[in-house]
Amino acid sequence: MKSSNVIFHHATVTRERREDLHKHKSAILWFTGYSGSGKSTVAHAVEEELFQCACSTFVLDGDNVRHGLCGDLGFSHKDRQENIRRIGEVSKLFVEAGIIVLTAFISPFRMDRERVRSMVPHGDFLEIYCQCSLDVCEQRDVKGLYAKARAGKISQFTGISSPYEAPEKPELVINTGEQSLEYCVQQVLTSLKQRGKIQ
Ligand code: ADX
Repeated sequence: MKSSNVIFHHATVTRERREDLHKHKSAILWFTGYSGSGKSTVAHAVEEELFQCACSTFVLDGDNVRHGLCGDLGFSHKDRQENIRRIGEVSKLFVEAGIIVLTAFISPFRMDRERVRSMVPHGDFLEIYCQCSLDVCEQRDVKGLYAKARAGKISQFTGISSPYEAPEKPELVINTGEQSLEYCVQQVLTSLKQRGKIQ
């Protein structure tokens, strides 16, 4: 999709120059999983560690983004698709800005996640599957939404009345249902080091 009569302007301050300045590579850490699986918690904890190492980071979080940029969207298949498309475009800009962007969206549809992957250079999109059974998410029910969904007060709720397609080949699986937060955070940081994103 592209507006008509627009010409791309190339910046002299390139992604590479920004990365040199920041002393790390940019990347999208795409956390996916059920509501309540720990995506935001792990993303913010990873960001905290990276920030303390002087990395340039930003977290895009489902609940926050849906207050503004995606405030006009609901939870139909089409709206979720548009939600992820917009987040993908924003994440791409962060990558250009030399930043490590961490996204925490259910992003239940494989095709939507793969579309974001294809928007950035190979190796820049790291899909991180927050593996946590629906039972555990429902027991936690931090926001009380599973109870509402079971009672029929919320329609199209992921895991209850709307599907979740788990990643087939994610760059990383973290077992947020059973492992500690600290362990999951270390797994993400180790993966970033192994991939040469951070030192
Ligand atoms: S996504 O499917 O489009 O990726 P997103 O991550 O932005 O979803 O938003 C999910 C959050 O919205 C959940 O954590 C929950 O707090 C809230 N929410 C409200 N209604 C629903 C619903 N029908 N399905 C899933 N999450 C919902």
